[in-house]
Amino acid sequence: MNLEAVNPEGARNGRLLIVEDDEGLAQLITRKLTRQGFLVDSVPNATAALEATTSIDFDLLLLDYQLPDMTGEDLIDRLQGRGHTAPFIVITGHGDEQIAVEIMKQGARDYLVKDYSFLDRLPTAVQQTCRQIETERLLRETEVRLQRSEKNAQALLDATAEVAMLIDRRGTILATNAVLADRLGKATADLVGAHVFDLLAEASAAALRHHVEQATRTRSMVCFEHSEAGRSLATSVFPVLDGSGEVDGVAVYSQDVTEQRKLADQLQQAQKMEAIGQLAGGIAHDFNNILQIILGRSALMAESLGSEGKLAEDLGEIHSSAERAAVLTRQLLVLSRRQLLQPQDVDLNRILEGLMNMIGSVVGETIRLEVFAGDGLRTVRADPGQIEQVLLNLCINARDAMPSGGRLTLETKNVILDEDYCAVHEGVHPGPYVQLTVSDSGVGMSQEVLEHIFEPFFTTKELGGGTGLGLATVYGIAKQHKGSIRVYSELGHGTLFTLLLPVAEPSGRAVVSAAAGDSVAQPPRGGTETLLLAEDDDGVRRLALCALQLNGYRVLEAANGDDALRILAENSDISLAVLDVVLPGLAGPELRESLLRVKPGLPMVFTTGYSARMDHVAFVIEKGHRVIQKPYSPAELARGVRAALDEEPSQLTN
Ligand SMILES: Nc1ncnc2c1ncn2[C@@H]1O[C@H](COP(=O)(O)OP(=O)(O)OP(=O)(O)O)[C@@H](O)[C@H]1O
Ligand SMILES: [Mg+2]
Repeated sequence: MNLEAVNPEGARNGRLLIVEDDEGLAQLITRKLTRQGFLVDSVPNATAALEATTSIDFDLLLLDYQLPDMTGEDLIDRLQGRGHTAPFIVITGHGDEQIAVEIMKQGARDYLVKDYSFLDRLPTAVQQTCRQIETERLLRETEVRLQRSEKNAQALLDATAEVAMLIDRRGTILATNAVLADRLGKATADLVGAHVFDLLAEASAAALRHHVEQATRTRSMVCFEHSEAGRSLATSVFPVLDGSGEVDGVAVYSQDVTEQRKLADQLQQAQKMEAIGQLAGGIAHDFNNILQIILGRSALMAESLGSEGKLAEDLGEIHSSAERAAVLTRQLLVLSRRQLLQPQDVDLNRILEGLMNMIGSVVGETIRLEVFAGDGLRTVRADPGQIEQVLLNLCINARDAMPSGGRLTLETKNVILDEDYCAVHEGVHPGPYVQLTVSDSGVGMSQEVLEHIFEPFFTTKELGGGTGLGLATVYGIAKQHKGSIRVYSELGHGTLFTLLLPVAEPSGRAVVSAAAGDSVAQPPRGGTETLLLAEDDDGVRRLALCALQLNGYRVLEAANGDDALRILAENSDISLAVLDVVLPGLAGPELRESLLRVKPGLPMVFTTGYSARMDHVAFVIEKGHRVIQKPYSPAELARGVRAALDEEPSQLTN
């Protein structure tokens, strides 16, 4: 047996094993093939062949058909039985057709008869077989590579959350992914070969066809957005070029951007409301002081004129018009979120309960009122008056939407907002909320109306029917309470408003509200105490001075915080200070503290109009002081002052 490499260089054409018992012939063959560049081993019998093939991987076996220990046929069977796959050529002494057929059936690559030209034909036969083997190997490799690249391409298509597909110029799908298959309710494999324009809804197919043509014509990427079944889809079409630079198809990626668009719209809406709010707040600020003076002066005049006569009547008109203007201004302040909140621990169910009678009479008999008050409703921190306002505004709108009767449903419950919800809804954060829904079976709203309902002065009601401030106010209140208000409506079917307010741990702190316990109808009781009055607007200050003096008080005026502090230090008989929350110079919490240092326990009443920084005003409520909102009437001021003077000092938090 010769398993040594005869010519190491010979390995370049492959390694062969000759199984031949005729030693002379084996040597001749070895020499011939070695010269051809093969690395040749030879063994004299089948047993040795079986042994050699266990340790060496031969590229080709040359088998003599007649071996001393077994036939070539048996050797092949044994080799194949062991899973041996190397190709082989059979050499036989007879030119027997039958044997040839059998041998080829067993998988021989070729069959050579040992005749006079055998040695001449052998190299060509071996080379041909080797080439064939090499070609087959390359083919297999290519196939594997092709399969792998197909798998990679599919993996790339499948790895995106978008619809991805490759189509030819006529729209035949060459490849696509599960996203499209899922959307169409088919298997990915069934889509390949199908015509994409036949699969899509008519409008989508037309849009895609148009943009595929455009991408093909311009040889550049084209993006477009359209909606299908209420979803917004953003699609990009990329031309795919063949080897010669011609467009032979397009790659299409399409993404569902409904949630992103919704969020962007919500953000835009919030920004719009913010801008409108600022504008409204600014107007309200200037109007407040003007109305304050008109209202106050006309009230004072009315007192001296009495109620009889033409002058008194005219004055009454002026006064009631100014009051209407004041109501509007207040509403502007609410919707612009410049209203001073008086937050308390609030149980929404209790507010509902308290308002039931009123809502009942507002909506009338033709509307069936249903209330589902959630169990164990959690506490929110809210200004009860404002929440009542929200409820009333929503109920009145519902009533107006059901002119010939219907159903109005109010429902409260605890909800938890998760990350997913908050990711697509502007203005809320994950956590517990209390939800109030107000739904009606009324006329509903069109998309165009829905887009504007929260804007101030937007109304579809006839002239004089509505101011269009109802929902703008609701929006402002929801926002100021760090909550949100949403609407869902279908034309002809009804509307559902959802108010969400963040849950707050009960603080247990009692809040002294501005008018708590005061009887508004009663004329105010006056007094003879000395008061400090700090107000920077001259007109308003003169009015307040007048109102307080008329009630018997002695009043010392200051136009700013520093003056107020000085006057307090110089006058030990001051019993109470009336302070505007926003003053030039020393003001707000600092002024309050400075005054208290000069005169500990000094009662204070704060007046407030619009403030760009409502957080600067919050301390007034926190410390439990009385607040009188501008525009106020002389009587309101006098009542507030009296009540504060009569209050137990311990009610204040220092
Ligand atoms: N429940 C509802 N059903 C149908 N449409 C509604 C409903 N609520 C509000 N709208 C529509 O929204 C518009 C704005 O409502 P909003 O409450 O802000 O103003 P208004 O009711 O018209 O006037 P105001 O409330 O100031 O008296 C209404 O004119 C109406 O077209
Ligand atoms: Mg309304």
